[in-house]
Amino acid sequence: MTSNQHVLDWVKEMEELMTPDKTIWIDGSEGQLRALREQAFATGELTELNQEELPGCVLHHTAKNDVARVEDRTFICTSNKADDCMMVNWMDPNEMKAKLLPLYKNVMAGRTMYVIPYCMGPIGSPFSKVGVEVTDSIYVVLNMDIMTRVGVKALRQLGDSNDFVRGQHARADIDPENRYIVQFPEDNAIWSINSGYGGNVLLGKKCFALRIASYQGYKEGWMAEHMLILGIEDPQGNVDYITAAFPSACGKTNLAMLIPPEVYAKQGYKVWTVGDDIAWMHIGDDGRLYAINPENGFFGVAPGTNEKSNPNALHTTMKGTIFTNVAHNLENNTVWWEGLDKNPPEDVQEWTGLAVDGKEYIANGGKLAHPNSRFTAPAANCPCLSKEFNNPNGVPVTAMVFGGRRAKTAPLVYQSFSWAHGVYVGSAMASETTAAAAGAVGVVRRDPMAMRPFFGYNVGDYFAHWLEMGKKLGDKAPKIFNVNWFRTDDEGHFIWPGFGDNMRVLMWILKRCKGEAEAVETAIGYEPKPEDIDITGLDGVTVDTIKGLLDVDKELWLEDVKGVEELYAQIGDHVPAELHAEAAALRERLSK
Ligand code: GDP
Ligand code: PGA
Ligand code: MN
Ligand code: MN
Repeated sequence: MTSNQHVLDWVKEMEELMTPDKTIWIDGSEGQLRALREQAFATGELTELNQEELPGCVLHHTAKNDVARVEDRTFICTSNKADDCMMVNWMDPNEMKAKLLPLYKNVMAGRTMYVIPYCMGPIGSPFSKVGVEVTDSIYVVLNMDIMTRVGVKALRQLGDSNDFVRGQHARADIDPENRYIVQFPEDNAIWSINSGYGGNVLLGKKCFALRIASYQGYKEGWMAEHMLILGIEDPQGNVDYITAAFPSACGKTNLAMLIPPEVYAKQGYKVWTVGDDIAWMHIGDDGRLYAINPENGFFGVAPGTNEKSNPNALHTTMKGTIFTNVAHNLENNTVWWEGLDKNPPEDVQEWTGLAVDGKEYIANGGKLAHPNSRFTAPAANCPCLSKEFNNPNGVPVTAMVFGGRRAKTAPLVYQSFSWAHGVYVGSAMASETTAAAAGAVGVVRRDPMAMRPFFGYNVGDYFAHWLEMGKKLGDKAPKIFNVNWFRTDDEGHFIWPGFGDNMRVLMWILKRCKGEAEAVETAIGYEPKPEDIDITGLDGVTVDTIKGLLDVDKELWLEDVKGVEELYAQIGDHVPAELHAEAAALRERLSK
């Protein structure tokens, strides 16, 4: 399939290490993929779903202990000891290799090695990058085929170059004690073993497109961020693009695919999805920042997705989709998850495969789908996919948004005073933890730029890189905002309706970028005048509700600055002085 000697040599090295019985190169052809699907049906690795209702869709269950990313078993291995800082799990590369090599030795004996060449980013884009993943899992092959551009076209993009990321994955769900997800940014290498969960094994995604790529961006002067990319088209046909960084399971996929509320739809506004999870951003010839989505599909959270909350996502999953750890509706061989509709099927298998009475199961406090159950769906299915999706140059970014789950403290929206202040705002992000990563759920933790699990190098250097990019962009830099859809009332209910109605906030953001909206200067940044958030057609939301959502509690905010200063102290002396100054200035404004 290729005459690239670097690729051939490396695959040979992998064969010698893992000694598979045979090697199959994935060419990206439908015939080959179909044969693999058939094989997985025969072994039970995949279940074919109702082909009339869900053509091309399949169901997969992972091991019970293997349902989310494992941050404590995820490592960055560089020669730079300074990368060993708060939020980066670092180990010396040689030490790590010595530890892991025995695990890989002969690990594929009696099995097949699949070689997956893949391209992150549109074919032909100067910003795209190629990877090759070897794996012994058909599930991984089929997911990679949806999430990336695989096969011959990826090898063509690579040509004779040696610049590709080498990913080695083996043994889905065998031995959690020896589960490792390891990045070697200096070697362009990823070693993943003993997991079968998406974020740990689809090596193009978090491992390459965020951890390795953030390091590449630092060295090469661009940015790899945990951000969705969406376009808002006005009635005249002009499109403005917004990127937004929220931690996992905090609303990126939903925002990226939002359906405009009636008040905007009837004026002719439209929303287009470019990406739902990752943005690679470069400074263009005109000095503006341009974003591409390196992925080719969506790996989305299933629970909560329904005809009302996110019809676009739901329609995207109606064909050619892999469902993982959702419930199996045995009444019609389809799928079910909490929030899909009100009533669970009576005849259903919950996500681990146990057949139960759905109603009874839920009444007893059970969840039929795992809270981090996922769909892997082709981008091409998305009804609102942007026509710029494959644009090799990407789309120009007007605004960048940070946000997380905060029951209190963070208001609905505010704008930073400057780029440097915006970098402070991103660095200060905090969010309640979710089921997307192993560990406790609902605990507030710091998650700078939503990148906590994905930094590929020293976090202080990463902040400095952001400041540096802002200096290069100058007055062409996107404006930076922060949002919070998750404020709760005293009973713990979300106050803001969220989902499609989040567009009301995005519209204020765009108006600010164009100098068309006023703002109130507060200690933490510029806030909207409450009446400037359009609430036309919203039930139960008044200007007073908005006023409440914009409220800044100075005591809570002083606590927050303290938390950020503690975080900076933990990260260490690479945190730029400018950010310490921003923290001090915020403290002073709050103390006035
Ligand atoms: P992602 O992992 O960042 O892409 O997050 P998703 O868009 O998949 O959403 C994760 C969870 O948050 C799902 O259960 C959604 O239903 C829920 N969610 C997303 N957006 C909103 C919102 O605006 N308000 C509320 N209350 N929940 C939301
Ligand atoms: P998410 O992507 O951000 O859509 O949850 C997967 C993840 O971050 O694990
Ligand atoms: Mn993500
Ligand atoms: Mn998502």
